[in-house]
Amino acid sequence: MESALDYFAAEALLTWQVELGATEAILDTPVDRYETPKQAPKATVATPASVAEPAAAKPVEVDAVAEAKKAAQGVSDLDGLQDALAAFELCELKRGARNLVFADGNPAARVMIIGDAPGRDEDREGKPFVGAAGTLLDRMFGAIDMGRDVPLSKDAIYITNVLPWRPPQNRDPKPAEIAMLRPFVERHVEIVAPDVIVLMGNVAGEAVLGKRGITRMRGTWQEAFGKPVLPMLHPAYLLRQPRAKREAWADLLSLKAKLEDTA
Ligand code: URA
Repeated sequence: MESALDYFAAEALLTWQVELGATEAILDTPVDRYETPKQAPKATVATPASVAEPAAAKPVEVDAVAEAKKAAQGVSDLDGLQDALAAFELCELKRGARNLVFADGNPAARVMIIGDAPGRDEDREGKPFVGAAGTLLDRMFGAIDMGRDVPLSKDAIYITNVLPWRPPQNRDPKPAEIAMLRPFVERHVEIVAPDVIVLMGNVAGEAVLGKRGITRMRGTWQEAFGKPVLPMLHPAYLLRQPRAKREAWADLLSLKAKLEDTA
């Protein structure tokens, strides 16, 4: 007999559920949690005080930012940093993500790009900026003769995000999530030691400069982690507002000039 659900329909249904935020399959049949139990619960036997279980310990409050600092400072290279992030259990975003999205490009690059957070395509591939916004980002940097697959550090870019895990339904990350992942971003910058940092989008602006308002800040050179920092409009924004590409082009020229000045 032919199955009621063919392979492709089943896969589409599953993808749809994942998009809705389902992260695990629990049971084949639904459970009615309002149903009265068939058997009365067994009476519990009083335990003499002398052998009673000790009172449950009070839950200990964990300082996620302090833990993140400790984990990030304990590593000395990119592999160590990636492992430390993979082992960091205090960020809820990790549970809903398929992959850790760490970085891409040339770690010897003069320019380090920090984006906001992985989207669906990045979550699937485990690489930053591989979807439509990533294609535009590659074209933007290609226009000034730079790229992520370029071996020469002067023309290369290195790309990461503030959040290494995709937020469910691409929701905005919470301030607490940004704060607990910032120590990893800071250590990432220390290890890569770029000459210049480009911040793509509001989450990157908030994490690195402590302020939002990318449309106001873009194109204005600032400083963070002891490096020149250029906030830019996010490629995803440029896809929605193609007229803003003029500003992005001005910022790319400003970046090129900065690199030539500091060569
Ligand atoms: N947007 C980002 O900020 N980062 C990505 O990796 C993809 C889209």
